[in-house]
Amino acid sequence: MSAPELGIGIVGYGGMGKAHSLAYVLAPRVRELPAAPRLRVISGRNGAAVEHAARSLGFERFTSDWREVVAAADVDIVDVCTPPGTHAEIVEAAAQAGKAVLCEKPLAAELGDAVRAVAAVRRASVRNAIGFNYRRLPALALMKQLIDEGRVGEPRLWRGAFLTDEFVDPEIPHDWRFTRAEGASTVADLGAHLIDLAGWMVGEITATCAQSETFIRSRSSNGELREVDVDDASAALLRFGGGAIGVLETARVCPRRPCDFTVEVNGDRGTLRFDYARLNELWYGDGAEPPELYGVRRIRAEHPSHPQTEGWWPLGQGIGYGETFVNQAADLLAQWPDGAWTPDLAVGLEVQAVCETIERAAAERRWVEVAEVRSPAAV
Ligand SMILES: NC(=O)c1ccc[n+]([C@@H]2O[C@H](COP(=O)([O-])OP(=O)(O)OC[C@H]3O[C@@H](n4cnc5c(N)ncnc54)[C@H](O)[C@@H]3O)[C@@H](O)[C@H]2O)c1
Repeated sequence: MSAPELGIGIVGYGGMGKAHSLAYVLAPRVRELPAAPRLRVISGRNGAAVEHAARSLGFERFTSDWREVVAAADVDIVDVCTPPGTHAEIVEAAAQAGKAVLCEKPLAAELGDAVRAVAAVRRASVRNAIGFNYRRLPALALMKQLIDEGRVGEPRLWRGAFLTDEFVDPEIPHDWRFTRAEGASTVADLGAHLIDLAGWMVGEITATCAQSETFIRSRSSNGELREVDVDDASAALLRFGGGAIGVLETARVCPRRPCDFTVEVNGDRGTLRFDYARLNELWYGDGAEPPELYGVRRIRAEHPSHPQTEGWWPLGQGIGYGETFVNQAADLLAQWPDGAWTPDLAVGLEVQAVCETIERAAAERRWVEVAEVRSPAAV
């Protein structure tokens, strides 16, 4: 018997609209799934561009009004791939219409909006997930597994950096990424992924102190100079509930650094280190090994025994960025209709609270507890 069809509606045809669309096409070809996704409708504000996207990505139809995606009777999952400042309103409408929701990170540009989004999916009892796709990369999933197995012992230190060069050139025109209300901060845009990984692997972040800077304070848009109110770079010290401490750096003004992120955990027994430039590798140093083996070993994190490798290429060929989105779609569809979706929007809300704590700490130049920032509704 063939799997029942599941209608997909995607809001936004940009980079993530494309990544998510391809993922729904590939997921059932990589894994056997209980539901067959069908690309029903995609929306975007530019009519000609969304028509082109719909044709090239294989959607049945397109619209320039996202409300039509949410209202469509043949759509079961609304997948939100628009700028962060728009997420909450779309999630709320989708939940109200009884649709399942997958929302790109960060959940919102403002904590209050993130709270609204979570309240809406809870009220409507619809399944929901946040797009922390890096959890689906074998090396990072393996890192989490090894920490859970006690291979580094008790985590003491966490270190993460996410560096890009996307804001280096002052001639790059103003767009949604330079307005905090639309694009969220750099702490949230880049940092959300790392804060999620930190929480997933090491536990709750409880307090932070930080500094931020915006080096290029205005950019042109159609010949007019517009203010930039998003940080170019931020750095934070972190405290975890379990006693570990951490350091986080996020910056979009690092020449010749593209999507360069690193994550490291040092426990009382061992070290694990990941570098996205070598995304199929994980470095492990086991402090319990004899002295003649002193050092860290390179694990080829794409072995069939590793998480998130099911259905992919022969060992040595690599599992990359695109595959994280396919794994995400497959993991969610595998749970259709009754299994749990994870990470859900509540995780996105918790990450948002940490991001805003970092922003407040930087603005007020002091240590700030996450509990001080987290909305009472979110606790
Ligand atoms: N998980 C990842 O690796 C990753 C990577 C890049 C971006 N993202 C996230 O994905 C989301 C989208 O980013 P992107 O790079 O695809 O953006 P993009 O600029 O490429 O595309 C944005 C899309 O949203 C639509 N849009 C813009 N403003 C809108 C509005 N006010 N109302 C309705 N639609 C609107 C545009 O028409 C376009 O289709 C953001 O939240 C971003 O942080 C995630």
